[in-house]
Amino acid sequence: MSSTSNGVVRSGSIGGEFYDFSCKVMLIGDSGVGKTCLLVRFKDGAFLAGSFISTVGIDFRNKIVDVDGSKIKLQIWDTAGQERFRSVTHAYYRDAHALLLLYDVANRQSFDHIRAWVAEIKEYASEDVVVMLLGNKADISSDRVVRRDEGEKLARDHGIAFMETSAKTGLNVELAFIAVAKDLRAKKTRKPNDPSFSVKQYVDERKVNPANCCTA
Ligand code: GTP
Repeated sequence: MSSTSNGVVRSGSIGGEFYDFSCKVMLIGDSGVGKTCLLVRFKDGAFLAGSFISTVGIDFRNKIVDVDGSKIKLQIWDTAGQERFRSVTHAYYRDAHALLLLYDVANRQSFDHIRAWVAEIKEYASEDVVVMLLGNKADISSDRVVRRDEGEKLARDHGIAFMETSAKTGLNVELAFIAVAKDLRAKKTRKPNDPSFSVKQYVDERKVNPANCCTA
């Protein structure tokens, strides 16, 4: 281990690149909502178009991001949305720092299932886990069936952050992961009188709403 200029102890390295803090982020939600694509967009800046290959079980990728002078390693777990893998993925919830819960704006059922996903989070995740609701595939306009204000209301009901994303165009993808990294850094470096960091406020001030999406 070595020290950074800001006195924070580095906690490790991957591929020779050091990081100060590390956290586990999980992508959850129904099969086909775009979890793998969101991860690939963030990690590699690319979109996996074409044939849909469903995730089997669980997998992870690492990415180190720079946040306010700290290097944060995000260990991002991509879970299978299919019901038959649920018992496998539940075991990974407990030590997750953040859960990105996705639905597909062109799939009403994936949105209707969010309440059940929130119940699973309450049952299996830690109490202080950061949860963000993401309405993915916001690039789709004519086949959209879930309005933005419905997502906003659902997130409000559960007291969690919300935004629409697109793994295809990259809309708000970076923001979702950076907000999680900022939250981790704030928790690790916060002094007793510092104001607490709000993921919800952070994304609300920065998120871009898709131009073709009505709010009413
Ligand atoms: P499981 O692994 O079964 O849980 O599915 P998943 O949630 O990981 O879905 P995946 O990322 O594999 O995407 C499913 C399909 O949706 C693929 O055909 C993607 O190309 C498509 N898709 C994902 N994200 C987007 C998006 O933002 N916009 C559009 N238009 N299509 C998307």
